[in-house]
Amino acid sequence: MDNKRGSFTNKLGFVLAAAGSAVGLGNLWRFPYLAAKYGGGIFLLVYLILAISFGFTLMITEIALGRKTRLSAVGAYQSLNKKFSFLGYLSCLVPFIITPYYCVIGGWVIKYFVVFITNQVSQAANDTFFAAYTAQTSAPIIYFMIYALLTVLVVLMGVEGGIEKASRFMMPVLVILAVFISVFSILQPGAIEGVIYYLKPDFSRFSATTVLAAMGQLFYSMSLAMGIMITYGSYMKKDAHLENSVHQIEIFDTGIAFLAGLMIIPAVFAFSGGSEEALGKGPSLMFVTLPKVFDSMRFGTVIGAVFFLLVLFAALTSSISLTETLVSIVRDKFGWSRRKSCVIIGAYLVILGVPISLGFGLLDFIAPLGMSLLDFFDFISNSVLMPIVAFLTCIFVGFIIKPQAVIEEAEVNGTFRLKKFYTLIIKYIAPVCLIAILLFSVFEVFGIITV
Ligand code: PHE
Repeated sequence: MDNKRGSFTNKLGFVLAAAGSAVGLGNLWRFPYLAAKYGGGIFLLVYLILAISFGFTLMITEIALGRKTRLSAVGAYQSLNKKFSFLGYLSCLVPFIITPYYCVIGGWVIKYFVVFITNQVSQAANDTFFAAYTAQTSAPIIYFMIYALLTVLVVLMGVEGGIEKASRFMMPVLVILAVFISVFSILQPGAIEGVIYYLKPDFSRFSATTVLAAMGQLFYSMSLAMGIMITYGSYMKKDAHLENSVHQIEIFDTGIAFLAGLMIIPAVFAFSGGSEEALGKGPSLMFVTLPKVFDSMRFGTVIGAVFFLLVLFAALTSSISLTETLVSIVRDKFGWSRRKSCVIIGAYLVILGVPISLGFGLLDFIAPLGMSLLDFFDFISNSVLMPIVAFLTCIFVGFIIKPQAVIEEAEVNGTFRLKKFYTLIIKYIAPVCLIAILLFSVFEVFGIITV
């Protein structure tokens, strides 16, 4: 993102680049563990409803704001209304919180790749392996640093060429492998109950927390409420049909998350029984369950190694877009060179990432709100900051610049079929729901109410 503003070469290029940022650990690692924890089918249903309503509304808004102003978040809000520049800054805060812990998980993925290529599948399939590993001091830090270094190096060298080409090839491979692993997982004895748990909504499990968790996941997975899609929109050509592009990105992102759940949740039932405890494992779920699947598979070592390599790749394309954002924020703000910005952002990632990694061992006594450090950062960004940014964005578009501004931009090329639906959501439904849910969750965490 050097001084002159490039644009994506064709329509598909934009969709693929946005999807590359969107598809990452959020889909493969975060979605399945939340779905497992929050009641399976009911979580899936709530997520899908939110995706086609809120997700659609926010994504088209952000991309339109970027394309209209040709600026990234801070500049875009500022140029539309001076009083709202703070919203640009607020949304920039989110990637600062997410990126360090994203790299810690990226480090775990590298470790698992190494475990598979060195043929230690059966150890990894053991229930205690993951917890014992993350509790160590130096190894997870080293892998985290390798991951962060890889990310920063790519950002330093510029993203265009290699990464984009590689991702065009690797994303389809990831999809094919995910379908294959899901089928294998569903065919395991006992797995069918997991399929039912995942697909059949149990309405008694519905609560405000389910909605909050699904909403936070939606923002995270689609890279919303942090200014990233504004930046992407600013590179988008005027001849692309906005509404259709948004549908494509959403279908792609949601499809991969759905497949990841299908790969992991039935396997939890087959290998660990569908107990509350097994399903509620949280962040470790992917790392505990999938090795068991691979261990029981013929050629599981090779398939597992390829799988973790692809997860690593999907994660890298996302963390690169996160880091690129951080670098461009400090460059714009302080006028530093690209190299200097990369070094400083790299140092920042290490300073925060090391304690987050140690949060599972040496520093596990630090437990803000009863959470591990990683969960805490995840909570602050996904359950607090993103709903706030999303709420303010809705108010900004709904009542300050008016939905018409976005609709006009979307209609530069073709009609905006869902504009009535869009207006209704952005002005009324989304702000009311966002505030209600945010209050619920914050009260719940602080123990003011119990749901
Ligand atoms: N959406 C990415 C994922 O699902 C995470 C991400 C968020 C990437 C924001 C870039 C920007 O993993």
